[in-house]
Amino acid sequence: MAIEADIGLIGLGVMGANLALNIAENGYPIAVFNRTAEKLRVFADSAGPLGERIIRAGTLAELVAAIRPPRAIILMVQAGEAVDQQLEQLQPLLAPGDLIIDAGNANFRDTIRRARALDEAGLSFLGLGVSGGEEGARYGPSLMAGGTEASYARVEGILDAIAAKYNGEACCARLGPDGAGHFVKTIHNGIEYADMQMIAEIYGLMRDGAGMSAGEIATQFRRWNDGPLRSYLIEITAKVLETRDPGSETPVTDLILDRAGQKGTGRWSVIEAQVMGVPATAIEAAVAARSLSALKTEREFAAAAYGSLGSSSALERASFVATAEMALLAGKVTAYAQGFAVIAAASAQFGWNLPLPAIARIWRAGCIIRSDLLDTIASAFEAEKEAPNLLVVPAFVRIMQKAVPQLRAVVSDAVGSGLPVPSLAAALSHFEAYRQSRGTANLIQAQRDFFGAHGFDRTDTAGVHHGPWGLAVSSVSPAAMLDGPTRSSPANSGPVEE
Ligand code: ATR
Repeated sequence: MAIEADIGLIGLGVMGANLALNIAENGYPIAVFNRTAEKLRVFADSAGPLGERIIRAGTLAELVAAIRPPRAIILMVQAGEAVDQQLEQLQPLLAPGDLIIDAGNANFRDTIRRARALDEAGLSFLGLGVSGGEEGARYGPSLMAGGTEASYARVEGILDAIAAKYNGEACCARLGPDGAGHFVKTIHNGIEYADMQMIAEIYGLMRDGAGMSAGEIATQFRRWNDGPLRSYLIEITAKVLETRDPGSETPVTDLILDRAGQKGTGRWSVIEAQVMGVPATAIEAAVAARSLSALKTEREFAAAAYGSLGSSSALERASFVATAEMALLAGKVTAYAQGFAVIAAASAQFGWNLPLPAIARIWRAGCIIRSDLLDTIASAFEAEKEAPNLLVVPAFVRIMQKAVPQLRAVVSDAVGSGLPVPSLAAALSHFEAYRQSRGTANLIQAQRDFFGAHGFDRTDTAGVHHGPWGLAVSSVSPAAMLDGPTRSSPANSGPVEE
């Protein structure tokens, strides 16, 4: 086989096949391989005129032989073990300097491990987050790369060409070394979970609280897509809600079982947030809501056990609809602020120096959370480089000042009607706590000191202090009544707790 491909691709699932067509369409000859030969045949047959730039490889050796060295090969196989298996088979066939690009939804910790192992073998590795689903892969995804500058430079031309464009700018960037791209993709997905969940919560209030039909709700979402919520997710929500089942003419959404799937990236994003101690409660609530949705049988039992419990007092439709748009915006901004805070923390922890404005910029088109709001976020981070959080950037302070009262109204309406809004309520509580200069952790510190002698800071004196708890509790020994920065024994008996 002649050496004629600029790049190779392994894994012709939905994403891989569309990415390969996108690359070919942009003028780059590409060699493709798939473990199951039948899929390769079907793909090649469906490629049409683009087939001229697509080289079918029946084996990995043929694939490697078809690519111009130093080679670049995209892996688009199922995330997890399949990637390691594929790397193991591929490695002996490659030459030093060859580059492997994992474009699957890898866990960034795996990407760091793989980058190190391949580096030791003289090979280069890029972890590439790809967002945009099937359509994005085919016509322009958002691409988040992690790896060395030299590795990225080798494929930058191809990646820029195939990426989505926002005002002519490619939604593609090298964000940092090794796992940086896959980490950012993970948080992108976490934000996506929150975005989708909040939309679903507003839909639930309209359906179950205001008694609106799928078509009526679709009309609202279509209107909102001309305002500050304008985004891909709002647009497709209107579209799916107005779609009818061809047989019964029933709205398709009314026929879909209320049990959501998840592949793990949302969960990873909240695990990483928790590991770093970053509050990402709106995202956590969204992930938990999917898990709760899966408990369909249990929910049916619980529904029978509790009946209506005096809930679902009807929402006043006009006033609800009037407040819901800005409420959703306030929830969404909070979820984005949390997601970017997780990214900023990881950047510091892993020394990645992640560019927050660039991340917002490459999310403006191509990916599932694409929206005009991301353009505002990019400008905000650009203007306020030292801002610790999106919620204190002036442009967003102004948005939240307008929108939060409506989020309060919507959450309060939902609570009054006995309807769940876990992500919106988590966002609201986060916001309220975040803007409190004096919170309630003084009491937590007192409790911790009482049972575990953990000590606390005082508002009026420096140093670590302990409370005179024995004065209030008769069972505490006299020794424990002493206050002062030096005492180290627990104020109360029992194991040291958190
Ligand atoms: P998508 O969602 O894009 O369709 P996916 O399920 O993430 O894709 O991955 C599917 C791809 O991974 C397929 O190309 C699959 O190969 P087969 O067609 O042979 O099933 C590939 N894949 C999965 N496990 C693999 C493994 N262990 N080795 C090689 N390829 C594997």
